[in-house]
Amino acid sequence: MIVKTLILTTPGQFSQADTDFDRTVQAHEVLLKIHRIGICGTDYHAYRGKQPFFSYPRILGHELGAEVVEIGSEVTNVAIGDKVAVEPYLNCGVCQPCRNGKTNCCEKLQVLGVHTDGGMREFLKVPTRKVYASKTLSYEQLALVETLGIGSHAVNRAQVQAHDLVLVIGAGPIGLSVAQFAKLKGATVVVMDMNASRLAFCQQQLGVDATVLLQNTDPVEEIRKGLNGDLPTVVFDATGNSSSMMQAFKLVAHGGRLTFVGLFQGDITFNDPEFHRREVTLLASRNALPEDFIGIIKGMEDGAINTQPWISHRVAFDDLLTSFENLLQPESNVIKAVIEL
Ligand SMILES: NC(=O)c1ccc[n+]([C@@H]2O[C@H](COP(=O)([O-])OP(=O)(O)OC[C@H]3O[C@@H](n4cnc5c(N)ncnc54)[C@H](O)[C@@H]3O)[C@@H](O)[C@H]2O)c1
Ligand SMILES: [Zn+2]
Ligand SMILES: [Zn+2]
Repeated sequence: MIVKTLILTTPGQFSQADTDFDRTVQAHEVLLKIHRIGICGTDYHAYRGKQPFFSYPRILGHELGAEVVEIGSEVTNVAIGDKVAVEPYLNCGVCQPCRNGKTNCCEKLQVLGVHTDGGMREFLKVPTRKVYASKTLSYEQLALVETLGIGSHAVNRAQVQAHDLVLVIGAGPIGLSVAQFAKLKGATVVVMDMNASRLAFCQQQLGVDATVLLQNTDPVEEIRKGLNGDLPTVVFDATGNSSSMMQAFKLVAHGGRLTFVGLFQGDITFNDPEFHRREVTLLASRNALPEDFIGIIKGMEDGAINTQPWISHRVAFDDLLTSFENLLQPESNVIKAVIEL
């Protein structure tokens, strides 16, 4: 069958092509018709040629809202016609982390749309254990599940509870997702960024307790102001900026946790006395687990997770070639853009 496909041929260059696609499914596979594709920082980095370990050409697309159109003989978790979210983390199932349930950081992890071809096309086949159905959510909501999974997993990693004082550094989509799940746990949440419009968004749409606009001064006093004089018991860095990550050690309350959600391609150093005096627990958070996908879908169905604020831009599949550059411009104020197909 011939399938309409968007291919990132080289950095800065998308092309649209009709590609040949074999629709036969294996016993444990499902064939999906793709309806919505979220675009995120990873896609922008790939487009700019700044995504490490990335090879071209590549079909992007890892945030998917899709319809099951064919199922393999052994498939029991979904039926033809179901609307599904896709977990794009294709894990091997046999390595030590996989055996220990840490499928999010499988040693041989292949992420759809990053290490292997993803969903910027009409159809895609995936193992059936990677799809999660909902009877009530829209394709657009289902396409948001993966992004929200990053925040959900990070908040679970840090074991955030209602009594925690949380600082989220970086109010991009990832930081916003962390802030939303920390609020859902009942914690007090302060968000810090140097971008005032993103801070305004978290205050208005996510109901965070305070925001700190990072300027040239030391932010500690401002952070304390938002937390009744105290320091955060949990700090999340979602900037991907090494100096922010290194500074973050000094913002954690004694006995607190620091979680790196943002990634930096290099070394992060810290002062050991600063770390030890505080008895900091340092955590990395990578991707998300099946339980995050299940919990988010339930939270969306119950209305506990409001998806309304998230999508700021919608683009038709056939218009992506001409509009992608615009989405990259800071003045477009993109929170989350979604391709409609
Ligand atoms: N853990 C994971 O599995 C995972 C998944 C996806 C993305 N990420 C990473 O999360 C990070 C954030 O992603 P995003 O899409 O939200 O990025 P983004 O660029 O949209 O947002 C980053 C935000 O941080 C702010 N910022 C930058 N430097 C800062 C500083 N020094 N102090 C305060 N704020 C600062 C920026 O103004 C921006 O609002 C990236 O590093 C990305 O690679 C991690
Ligand atoms: Zn993403
Ligand atoms: Zn594995």
